[in-house]
Amino acid sequence: MTTSQPIDVQPETAALLAAGEPSPTGLRRFPEGFLFGAATAAYQIEGAVAEGGRTPSIWDTFSITPGRVVGGHSGAVATDHYHRYRDDVATMARLGLNSYRFSISWSRVQPDGAGPANPAGLDFYRRLVDELLDNGILPWVTLYHWDLPQPLEDAGGWPARDTAARFAEYAALVHRVLGDRVSNWTTLNEPWCSSLLGYANGHHAPGRQEPEAAIAAVHHLLLGHGLASQAIRAQEPDAQVGCTVNLYAVSPATDSPADVEAARRIDGLANRLFLDPLLLGRYPQDVVADLAGVSDFGHVREGDLATVATPLSMLGINYYSRYVVKAPEPVDGTVDWRGGGAVAPWPGSEGVEFVKRDGVPVTAMDWEIDAPGLAETLVRVHREYPELPLYVTENGAAFDDVVDPDGAVNDEPRVAYFDAHLRACLDAIDEGVPLRGYFAWSLLDNYEWAWGYTRRFGIVHVDYETQVRTPKASAHWYSDVIARHAVTDPQGAEATR
Ligand code: FCB
Repeated sequence: MTTSQPIDVQPETAALLAAGEPSPTGLRRFPEGFLFGAATAAYQIEGAVAEGGRTPSIWDTFSITPGRVVGGHSGAVATDHYHRYRDDVATMARLGLNSYRFSISWSRVQPDGAGPANPAGLDFYRRLVDELLDNGILPWVTLYHWDLPQPLEDAGGWPARDTAARFAEYAALVHRVLGDRVSNWTTLNEPWCSSLLGYANGHHAPGRQEPEAAIAAVHHLLLGHGLASQAIRAQEPDAQVGCTVNLYAVSPATDSPADVEAARRIDGLANRLFLDPLLLGRYPQDVVADLAGVSDFGHVREGDLATVATPLSMLGINYYSRYVVKAPEPVDGTVDWRGGGAVAPWPGSEGVEFVKRDGVPVTAMDWEIDAPGLAETLVRVHREYPELPLYVTENGAAFDDVVDPDGAVNDEPRVAYFDAHLRACLDAIDEGVPLRGYFAWSLLDNYEWAWGYTRRFGIVHVDYETQVRTPKASAHWYSDVIARHAVTDPQGAEATR
């Protein structure tokens, strides 16, 4: 009896061959089961801020405060997704997305930030989730994407310890209603932004400039994450619960010891201040020392860090760019890291300079495009922290898109951005990183926080006058990537995985 070699033909490959397409040689494939999705956040897309029992969040308050947001724009209408979610899910289905990452508006489902749920609010998310499931799209829920109910900010916000307990209560409430149909949960999106942009430099809601309170906010967000994970697992022991952090590749501008020190400081505040407590159960001692003039960490109570480090099912990483940093110029031989105490989102290291490299292309946010930094970041997390499944929960770029007379949006720079970053994901996977999925930011053009509607990140264009949606070239390109489960390899060599 002869045994034939099993031939590993993936369904997509078979489909391409059957359709008479060119041979799949020249494709660089993603591992089987790798998820391709797109992400959004409630305040950025939903609108309907006063409908169905929703009450104001800190972003409603902040956006209507004069001078806070470009053009005085608010999320009051946004992309009207609250009313158009069915069409938006149909668009996702046409593009072939495997998963959709969206966030729940806390003020919609628990208007006071405590106490009774709002059934109408929860019902909206049940309908959305059902629509996704009916279309074969895996719902991926983020519980907190920056929109704290205003009553909780009035009671102190994230610098107040009680907010962590309220968050766990809210998480349990949402899980009770959606847990039968949602299996992937992200507690927080980017606690760096919620704490340091919200409470240190005040560029984001609630707009406070109180560095010490910002460090307490870091801790209470992380504690809230731990308590929420435990609350969800108490209801469903096998629930997949993770947290999403925004990470940066960080490099010194030169190899001078002072610039290397600047890089250590910024890496500490941007990355390790969150990764170490979440994954190692401790604050990085060098960062605690850098922050000595800002906070004594007296807000940390015994047992907190064990709660923060409740085992994660997966870690979400949002990646956009690299920071290249330089030490402040010494004055009389002394480096003043606080740079005169300017209000910056880098407490204790406000004096560090962020350098733009010559010749490195930037997006419309003025963020340098650095795809190798994504691979570097993924490999770093894999090597320096306990192994766990990783997901890129956001990656994308704003460009000044041009709508052609026929309505098409040929966003080639965005295609190139996604292509380069997806290759970086494959490079990381080749290095052994257990990367399980990738979410493009964003499904739709939307309300880009303090930039209002002036920055477009969507793979689907939104005309804010008419709310007409038009998939851009990047959406069609991404759809092909998903169908092939691969990007094309310019070298013509097919990866063997
Ligand atoms: C991330 C946010 C997301 C979006 C992108 C551009 O920091 O999570 O809401 O604003 O940046």
